[in-house]
Amino acid sequence: MLNVSIVGGSGYGGGELLRLLLSHPHVRIQQVTSESNAGKFVYKVHPNLRKRTDLKFVSSNDLERCDVLFLALPHGRAMERIGEWLELAPVIIDLSADFRLRNPDDYPEWYGHEHSRPELLSEWVYGMPELHREELHTASYIAGCGCLSSAAILGLYPLFQAGVVDLDEPVVIEGKTGSSGAGGGVSLATHHPERSGAMRSFKPTGHRHTAEIVQELSCDHGTPRISFSATSIEAVRGILSTSHVFLKEPMDERELWRIYRRAYAKEPFMRIVKETSGVYRYPEPKILAGSNYCDVGFELDERNGRVVVMAALDNLMKGAAGQAVQAFNVRFGFPETAALEFPGLHPI
Ligand SMILES: NC(=O)c1ccc[n+]([C@@H]2O[C@H](COP(=O)([O-])OP(=O)(O)OC[C@H]3O[C@@H](n4cnc5c(N)ncnc54)[C@H](OP(=O)(O)O)[C@@H]3O)[C@@H](O)[C@H]2O)c1
Repeated sequence: MLNVSIVGGSGYGGGELLRLLLSHPHVRIQQVTSESNAGKFVYKVHPNLRKRTDLKFVSSNDLERCDVLFLALPHGRAMERIGEWLELAPVIIDLSADFRLRNPDDYPEWYGHEHSRPELLSEWVYGMPELHREELHTASYIAGCGCLSSAAILGLYPLFQAGVVDLDEPVVIEGKTGSSGAGGGVSLATHHPERSGAMRSFKPTGHRHTAEIVQELSCDHGTPRISFSATSIEAVRGILSTSHVFLKEPMDERELWRIYRRAYAKEPFMRIVKETSGVYRYPEPKILAGSNYCDVGFELDERNGRVVVMAALDNLMKGAAGQAVQAFNVRFGFPETAALEFPGLHPI
């Protein structure tokens, strides 16, 4: 049994970590923090966990040593106190963007501030098992991936690995996201009358996740020119990423199938969804709520040498806590699907 603590356990990402790890056969939850709810039962904030745990929130100042520390804090807060977290546990898994980017210069460019501990960045592994499984086996510090970026990267990675994308052309990615992607904090933009029913372009250019998409899709074949836009849609959970890439050489759909099968046939959470009939012909986030699957589909536009790639996931699962638990499983040699077996609901 590993003793695990969660910092920022009252938020959406922290709550999802708790939901998953409470059912993990090799985990004992030691402490869960919230500054504003310290002393309260966890189920007062996460009502789905009533009768699943008697834990109460503690302040992060009262954390004790543990085997693994999960951080689920707003951006900037993990790096601010990283010295303290490092004293508390030999393995740290952070859901924020604070340690995702390998190049310190990306922080001022995309996040508007210098990194406070740039010398530590090289010690962190980007926590996406499909791309970094070998490094994760021995990683002490794991950086959880962004939600919109996870969908974009997982959708496009097979094509970049296969070297079939024309890197002289831009790669255009449109990410659509539900409201929980913004976390549990309240603002006018998330106020029900303003958010309900909205289809809102909130970051047509300059979205921060662009940096990790470029980082993770760059390979021996070169660095892609990523043009990423983000839109809020009417959903609580869920992301659908639609990407447009142009091929170096003409190819048929059978070759594309081969590329995707080669990349994902053995991956426990990657499914290729491409049907010629029925309602669910392409990936849809609705049926993935609560599951750790990322569904990927594609269609060839032969006339333009374009491939349209669709990728769907639950932002709090494969886009955050679920993927972090998957990386945790890889790190400790547990079955990769431990605590992540839930297949989603249909209908929902
Ligand atoms: N939401 C998503 O879909 C998603 C997806 C991928 C990654 N992420 C990343 O995961 C992280 C958490 O996101 P979230 O959506 O869970 O945010 P959230 O709902 O706003 O939760 C943030 C948590 O941090 C605590 N906190 C805030 N300031 C703190 C401080 N100074 N010291 C200690 N604790 C503090 C909050 O509770 P108290 O104030 O009570 O302590 C709360 O528990 C973020 O970095 C986010 O970018 C989120």
